[in-house]
Amino acid sequence: MNYENVLFEIQDGVGILTFNRPKVLNALNPPTLDEVADVIERAAGDDSVRVLVITGAGEKAFVAGADINEFLKLNILSARQFAEKAHRIFFDLEHLPKPVIACVNGFALGGGCEVAMACDFIYASDKARFGQPEVNLGILPGFGGTQRLSRLVGRGKAKEICMTGEMIDAQEALNFGLVARIFPADRLFEETMKVARVLASKSAVSLRSIKKVINCGADMDLRNGCALEAEAFAISFGTHDMREGVNAFLEKRKPEFKGT
Ligand code: COA
Repeated sequence: MNYENVLFEIQDGVGILTFNRPKVLNALNPPTLDEVADVIERAAGDDSVRVLVITGAGEKAFVAGADINEFLKLNILSARQFAEKAHRIFFDLEHLPKPVIACVNGFALGGGCEVAMACDFIYASDKARFGQPEVNLGILPGFGGTQRLSRLVGRGKAKEICMTGEMIDAQEALNFGLVARIFPADRLFEETMKVARVLASKSAVSLRSIKKVINCGADMDLRNGCALEAEAFAISFGTHDMREGVNAFLEKRKPEFKGT
C-alpha cells in the first residue's frame, strides 16, 4: 500500500510511524486509519521491526483528533462503523506482539489521545497537551477514550477530562499516570529513539510475554492474573533467550538474544 497520510520507515530495528497531515494537525480520517492498519500488519509480520514508535509530523500536533471535516457526512450507522473500525485497529495496535511507544510531540486530543493510550507507554514533550474535547462537539469519545482513560487515570479524573473537554498539560498527564516520561520538545524524538533502541536489543520473546501478561492481566482478577504470569514465567525457561541471558550474566558478558 502507498501511504499518503502517514510515513513509515525502519531505523536500527525501530519502525517509525508518523501521522503526516500537518495542515489539519494530523487529524484521523478513514484513509489514515486504513494506512495505520497496514503499518501495524507490516510491523507485526516483519522481524526487522522489533519496536514501533508512533509520532506526529510538524511542531504542533501528535494528532488533534478524528477529522471533524468528515463528521457531517456520518449518520448513526456509519458513525458506528467508523468507531468500530478504529476500535479494531487500536486493539491490533494494543496487542501487537512488540513494544509500541507513543512519542507525543504536541496536541493529543480525541482520537490522538486514544491512539496514544493504545500504545504501551507514552513519552511526551513538555509542550504536549492531552484531552478528550468531543463533548464540545455534542458527542463523546468513540475510539476507546472513555474506557482506556478511566483504566489509566481512574474513573473520576477520566470523567472530569471527558465531561469538561478541557486539555491537560504534560505535567498533569504525568502526575495522573497517563504519561510515563516528559522530555524537552527538542529532545523528545531522540530520547524516545534511545529507549526504543534499548528495547530492540532485548529478548523479543521476553518483551512479547511481558506485554501479553500485563495486557491480559489488566482484565483479570489478581489470582488469575498471577496464574497467567506463572505459565508465561515457566515457558520462558524453555527459550534460547533465557539460557543466553542467564549464561551471559554468569560469564560477565553482554547477552545476544535471538528472540527464540
Ligand atoms: N479535524 C479536522 N481539522 C482539524 C482538527 C480536527 N480534529 N483539528 C485541527 N484541525 C484544523 C483546523 O481546522 C485548522 O484548519 P484551517 O487552517 O484550514 O483553518 C488547522 O487544523 C489548524 O488548527 P487551528 O484550530 O487553526 O489551530 P489552533 O492552534 O488555533 O488550535 C486546536 C489547535 C487543537 C486547539 C484546535 O485545532 C482544535 O480544537 N481542534 C479540534 C480538536 C478536537 O475537537 N478533537 C476531537 C475531534 S473528535
